[in-house]
Amino acid sequence: MFDSGIGGLTVAKKIFELLPHENVIYFGDTARYPYGPRSKRIVRNFSFQNTDFLLLKRVKLVVVACNTASAVALDVLRKRYDIPMIGVVEPGARGALKATRNGRIGVIGTVGTINSGAYQKAILRLDPGLTVCASPCPLFASLVEEGYINKEATRLIAHEYLDPLLRKKVDTLVLGCTHYPLLKSVISKVMGKGTRLIDSAEETAREVKSFLEGSALLRNAKQRSFRKFYVSDVPDRFVQVGEKFLRAKIKEVKRVDIDSY
Ligand code: DGL
Repeated sequence: MFDSGIGGLTVAKKIFELLPHENVIYFGDTARYPYGPRSKRIVRNFSFQNTDFLLLKRVKLVVVACNTASAVALDVLRKRYDIPMIGVVEPGARGALKATRNGRIGVIGTVGTINSGAYQKAILRLDPGLTVCASPCPLFASLVEEGYINKEATRLIAHEYLDPLLRKKVDTLVLGCTHYPLLKSVISKVMGKGTRLIDSAEETAREVKSFLEGSALLRNAKQRSFRKFYVSDVPDRFVQVGEKFLRAKIKEVKRVDIDSY
């Protein structure tokens, strides 16, 4: 799996929980984080390099754990590579469809994710009768990385971003960025009890499991498994912040010269 940096560890966490016997190779593109404000062309090029790196590790499936990369690059990745690829957008959209009662769904994510329209399209493809209200929340990812989880400033910013969605009466909100599950408590306080939060990470892990089962690619419980972490910048910050995302120790992280791929 790959991500723009640390955030994809929320997806890794769910995959580790659901599929403890799988070997997982995680690449976090920390040197080129964030992807959210970048152009489609740049994010696509980064995604090609990240995938080339993973393919050299002879993986059986690539999980595009980054919402921005899934939103703008998954289509071209699937065209370029034969290997199966799962992104976070389609599972998140399916989760929202299952959850909504009034047919009004909100989506939040980076500027790149929201402007691409990927979630909006994925949801409407499932049911054209739904209403989708999408809104970028670009400061959220930085707040999470800086540990601003329970701060007053975060609550104020959350109101700023989310009050318009509240006014549009959405009853379901897709957390369309890897970092947002860490803000679940502040987001649900702003949105109120009536709004269901959809964690794309959770939905994606379930999709990975059902894909592996369906293709007879699931590893058996008796085999020993490994988890390897690679990053494109020095690993210190990845370990420090990443352990909060993963709520577990990150033992070994190697640096990769991603520009050489
Ligand atoms: N992984 C990215 C995402 O889900 C985090 C934000 C970013 O890279 O800008 O969109």
